[in-house]
Amino acid sequence: MAEKGKAPFVCHIFVCTNDRGGKRKSCADNNSRQVRSRLKEIVNDRGWKGKARVSQSGCMGLCAKGSNVIIYPQGIWFSGVLPEDVEEIAATVVGIVEGD
Ligand code: FES
Repeated sequence: MAEKGKAPFVCHIFVCTNDRGGKRKSCADNNSRQVRSRLKEIVNDRGWKGKARVSQSGCMGLCAKGSNVIIYPQGIWFSGVLPEDVEEIAATVVGIVEGD
């Protein structure tokens, strides 16, 4: 029997790292793995571990707008994300984990 419970994090940040190897557009075309790595560093450096969790995900269905990053349960989507955009996402996350 599956165990059902409350989410263990205030927010969960999913970064699509799907890579189609150039056959079709995918989030990996915009360095989404680097986006994920930078977001993980920010979560660690700012002491948000336990509140915010960064995970890679498969395709979210908006491939042409990649990289896609979503924050749940807040339901916030960022599209067209490049590695240099992660501070903008962090500015949103700080408001969530620190109660802005
Ligand atoms: S490849 Fe990232 S949303 Fe489809």
